[in-house]
Amino acid sequence: MSQDDKTSKPWGGRFTESTDRFVELFTASVKFDQRLYPHDISGSIAHARMLGRVGVLKQEDTEKIIAALEQIRREIDSGDFRWSDALEDVHMNIEARLIELIGETGKKLHTGRSRNDQVATDMRLYLRTEIDSILVILQKLQSALLDIAEREAGSVMPGFTHMQVAMPVTLGHHMLAWFEMLERDRQRISDCRRRVNVMPLGSAALAGTTFPIDREYTAQLLGFASPAENSLDAVSDRDFVIEFCACAAITMTHLSRFSEELVLWSSSRFDFIELPDSFCTGSSIKPQKKKPDVPELVRGKTGRVTGDLISILTIMKGQPLAYNRDNQEDKEPLFDTVDTLSGSLRVFADMMPSVRIKHEQMRNAAKQGFSTATDLADYLVRKGVAFRDAHEIVGRAVRFCIEAGQDLANVSLDKLQEFSSVIDKDVFDFLTLDGSVSARSHTGGTAPEQVRMAAQRARIRMENSA
Ligand code: ARG
Repeated sequence: MSQDDKTSKPWGGRFTESTDRFVELFTASVKFDQRLYPHDISGSIAHARMLGRVGVLKQEDTEKIIAALEQIRREIDSGDFRWSDALEDVHMNIEARLIELIGETGKKLHTGRSRNDQVATDMRLYLRTEIDSILVILQKLQSALLDIAEREAGSVMPGFTHMQVAMPVTLGHHMLAWFEMLERDRQRISDCRRRVNVMPLGSAALAGTTFPIDREYTAQLLGFASPAENSLDAVSDRDFVIEFCACAAITMTHLSRFSEELVLWSSSRFDFIELPDSFCTGSSIKPQKKKPDVPELVRGKTGRVTGDLISILTIMKGQPLAYNRDNQEDKEPLFDTVDTLSGSLRVFADMMPSVRIKHEQMRNAAKQGFSTATDLADYLVRKGVAFRDAHEIVGRAVRFCIEAGQDLANVSLDKLQEFSSVIDKDVFDFLTLDGSVSARSHTGGTAPEQVRMAAQRARIRMENSA
């Protein structure tokens, strides 16, 4: 566009000078906000219908506007639409095309509305749609984890504290820990959706409009639970974006921790799992390498989502009421968060079912580090020894094992009795890995039967709140 086309701008009336070309580019958002187009069009159609119903628009104008908007939707869908940065944003690009198509009638659509309530509505419609698909992928990943939990309810692996082998646990139990984190994430995101699903449209620039609009009707057409209560709040509020980004940052933090484990577990030091080939890459120089790119990238991408949250919080912190152009900066962080979160969830949901478990290696690793020492202490307590004394006795037995290069479960009964006379041959039921995990049989414990029941309950919980 040239310097003298100021008249082509929908707001050009008040201006005598045309916009500086660089300022035009600097202020334009159409490069990134064009992804809002399906929602912008749905919002406009609902607005036009409402104006028709209350008699602000003639019925034939309403129909004309709606038909043209549907045509624009098709043009954009098929890639035939020419976006112009001189027209700033998605809203004005679509409106300009509408006017091009139906002339004077097209100019009536913006009655009783402002871009301020329009963009806030578009963002909410967009986020609501994205949340719905994110919740589906999240559930898919959760079900994959429940499948593993059920399959591996009896598979023994080391449980860690401080990255040191602490006690044997079951792999099923370990998977359920990740499930629980994601279940809280799912609940948080569903709850956030309730606050997203409120309609700003009708707030106009900030104070409402003089036309006899019916906001309840527009809200109903767009599937919003209700119109927003306060017009000033509705055009300026972006805490629904902050809230979603915060939920996403927590979920990504969970996925990042999970990724870290998968990276460690697939390394030759651990060798607990093998990631599917289709989720790894090779090295251009070391032919033996198979790199866990997917979990590494998810771990890495967590940084940008946390960054997006900080961006949107910072964008909002200095803004007085009501709408300020700062708000245009809400889009890129939100879009980036949506893309990163849904991509990361999808790749995890696809990858987890084909992770190969190396049961022997996991079990052998659980034998290291005297992981059943606590079981021996608990055994002594059950035989009447005070816990502090039991702790001391087991400490001495462990020191003996370290010096003798032995595992607790392999020490002879005679030798064990030197440490405490209350020890009997039934002690070995508790010193084995399976004995140790089976003994932790209560709600939330690692015993295989508890894991099976917990997985069943988890499935019901998830399905009931879907
Ligand atoms: N592109 C703008 C945004 O994203 C639309 C609203 C513009 N409103 C205004 N008063 N300039 O926020």
